[in-house]
Amino acid sequence: MSTVKLKEIYKRFDETEVLHDISLEIKEGEFVVLVGPSGCGKSTILRLIAGLEEVTKGEVLIDERVVNTVEPHHRNMAMVFQNYALYPHKSVRENIIFGLKRAKVARDIIEERLKKAAKMLELEDLLDRRPSQLSGGQRQRVAMGRVIVRDANLFLFDEPLSNLDAKLRNRMRSEIRKIHREYKTTSLYVTHDQVEAMTLGDRVVVMRDGRIEQVGTPMDIFLKPVNIFVATFIGAPAMNILDARLYPGFIELEGQKIAVNNRVEKIFVPDSGKRINLGIRPDFFIDENNAEPGASLSRIENALIDIVEPLGFEREIDATIGSQHIKAKLDLRTTAGEGEKINLCFDMDRVHLFDPETGRNLACDAA
Ligand SMILES: Nc1ncnc2c1ncn2[C@@H]1O[C@H](COP(=O)(O)OP(=O)(O)O)[C@@H](O)[C@H]1O
Ligand SMILES: [Mg+2]
Repeated sequence: MSTVKLKEIYKRFDETEVLHDISLEIKEGEFVVLVGPSGCGKSTILRLIAGLEEVTKGEVLIDERVVNTVEPHHRNMAMVFQNYALYPHKSVRENIIFGLKRAKVARDIIEERLKKAAKMLELEDLLDRRPSQLSGGQRQRVAMGRVIVRDANLFLFDEPLSNLDAKLRNRMRSEIRKIHREYKTTSLYVTHDQVEAMTLGDRVVVMRDGRIEQVGTPMDIFLKPVNIFVATFIGAPAMNILDARLYPGFIELEGQKIAVNNRVEKIFVPDSGKRINLGIRPDFFIDENNAEPGASLSRIENALIDIVEPLGFEREIDATIGSQHIKAKLDLRTTAGEGEKINLCFDMDRVHLFDPETGRNLACDAA
């Protein structure tokens, strides 16, 4: 399986620079997900690796070899797009093996690979159908089948699931994980969907405006976001970012004093009363009435509940404290209703302090 290295890549289309100083290494057999808002340059990176675009500056290496000028068909990779164009008049079988026949792969090898892929993707009973006789999810599986039979050393995925409905997307996510477990092909997967990024990636690369903001394991990125952008892009509902001030020993939020612990004390910056953004994930709040007795939690008092959304096992609450909104994901036991007040507890070890000017995570800066 291949390794990929991007070294200080810049890409300009006419006057517009769409990639700035992109450096990234993908290890053999690794599944890396590039995630970021639409237009941030994800597809461009994929296309540079595939050889469909040329870099303006920098180097693309595959298996330690610079491939800047190597033709796409000499790069031994396979790509899955969002719009998986299948041949409408060919059967599922023919669609899957078309590339192999064209490459004059021996018949028995074709059969063997087809069989394995069809089994893996549960397409065995559909091989004689035409694409028009398939559901959207089945068509996407055919497109996936066409890629995995190629025996490539590198898979590139460009938002392959974004045309599917939520249920199918979940299902295909599991399929893709299964394929990767089985074939162990080095993969680079592009999506704007942070759930796909978190569930599929061995490592996740978060991008914004042509730059890499953070690279790490999904848990690293979730628990230690380097800035407000990453913190609010990853995780749903998004992390609360609250205006507050930091003093020795406490944080002031809307006139309330919230005790801090050692960890936050250490972050402490020289000027007392400095404005900070306090970042707390909705998932990390606990209704004070349900907190473990004796747990050393901090709390925000008297948040006024505007909206309660019961979501089965969870209750999502929109509340107001002073002039600020807070979202909290609480459990079933919370009985407080709309118009009532609630005390929200949280563990100081789980919060983030950001610099409001730069957006940097002050704890990451300190580390
Ligand atoms: N061929 C092109 N010519 C001019 N601009 C382009 C071209 N391809 C992409 N862009 C621009 O580059 C930026 C990044 O695009 P893209 O890589 O497709 O983003 P993403 O995949 O993250 O949505 C966008 O602003 C887009 O308009
Ligand atoms: Mg794209």
